[in-house]
Amino acid sequence: MDFIRYEAKGSVGIIYLNRPKALNALNSQVLQELDLAMDSIDLEIIRVLIITGEGDKAFAAGADIGEMSTLPRKRAAEFSKKGNDVFLKIENYPIPVIAAVNGYALGGGCELSMCCDIRICSENAVFGQPETGLGITPGFGGTQRLERIVGAGRAKEMVLAATNIKADEAYRIGLVNHVYPQAELMDAALKLAGKIASNAPIAVRHAKKSMNEGYSLPIDEAVEVEEELFGDCFQTHDQKEGMGAFLEKRKEKNFINQ
Ligand code: CAA
Repeated sequence: MDFIRYEAKGSVGIIYLNRPKALNALNSQVLQELDLAMDSIDLEIIRVLIITGEGDKAFAAGADIGEMSTLPRKRAAEFSKKGNDVFLKIENYPIPVIAAVNGYALGGGCELSMCCDIRICSENAVFGQPETGLGITPGFGGTQRLERIVGAGRAKEMVLAATNIKADEAYRIGLVNHVYPQAELMDAALKLAGKIASNAPIAVRHAKKSMNEGYSLPIDEAVEVEEELFGDCFQTHDQKEGMGAFLEKRKEKNFINQ
């Protein structure tokens, strides 16, 4: 792959957007390779995925403006769908995905971070949806996910006024969970990933699925999704192991992903 680098560290996978000369801008090839990379991860081994950007300047500075600039209507809508399809794949990926935002996360970059389950960032991170200043709307989910994360009022100000915000503001409004000095970002991401990976994998997957699926349902239907997935956990080895360890006052747990 030209623009994606993948690395596995134990049970944690790391995808690097690797187009630093263009600030990791998302062209069709980057999206295609990201899609392929997601498909080729061995989910029997990998329990948490981290997505970050190569270099110390950008997570991703958006969809590729050069590529988009001459698109006719139909192909522009297809480009939007291409991004949305990959980002939906990330959002619905069976294992948790952490965005480690290491610099600019603008337009499609901000949108990429928002389809991940958890966002953390470095102190130099900048988030924003500058699209209206380019004569377009956000097209990779930004008109939908930003208001779900930070609320409609703040999201509309960011999108309609095309206002970028720095890491401290992103933290204040809940767009990111933690801010770190850049040199510490990946260690922090790996530590968080390790903590998630130490829990029962099927329970972690089911909890993500329950939260995702329930979110857009009325509460009475949403809790039914939860009830089924909760019940399913009781068919697993790891439920017996987790509860057995508690009852036997045992610290070590041997979760086997079954
Ligand atoms: N698309 C294509 N190329 C990009 C890019 C993008 N989104 N962002 C940066 N680049 C390229 C620049 O063209 C430049 O390339 P050259 O060296 O070949 O000229 C290189 O990356 C470095 O960028 P700058 O020289 O501009 O770096 P800077 O430090 O002066 O500025 C920046 C950094 C503020 C992030 C600036 O690059 C910028 O404003 N980028 C565009 C951000 C943007 O508008 N993103 C939204 C895109 S639209 C979108 O994403 C739609 C959607 O939802 C689908």
